[in-house]
Amino acid sequence: MPILEWNRSLETGIELIDNQHQELFRRIDRLELAMYNGRAVTELRNLLEYLESYIIEHFHDEEELMLRINYPGYAAHVKEHNDFRNKINSLLAECKGKGIDSYLAIDVDKQMRKWLEHHIMKTDMAIVPFINK
Ligand SMILES: [Fe+2]
Repeated sequence: MPILEWNRSLETGIELIDNQHQELFRRIDRLELAMYNGRAVTELRNLLEYLESYIIEHFHDEEELMLRINYPGYAAHVKEHNDFRNKINSLLAECKGKGIDSYLAIDVDKQMRKWLEHHIMKTDMAIVPFINK
């Protein structure tokens, strides 16, 4: 599977959000490289730790931006955030209970790719035309 890369077509023009998106792409990239190098468990642990704050801080920043610009798609967008928050929170709880292994890395990677492709590349990009209005 080719590694997904952040590129300038995914720029929102809001530096804070763009940096957060880029960092998430880098983290997924790092996990995928680690999966080839037999270091999946370590990198998965790092990613999960990162996601724990990402779902709070990044989503908060994005939701604040949408409110500021009166974005009409706010409610639907926040629903996607909440679903993802719930997914990550139950994943974190599961990992604390059962621990993590390299099979879980494959599964999390798949889910993260889906998130990049469906949310960041589509739902987040739909905000952009409203930012400079
Ligand atoms: Fe978003």
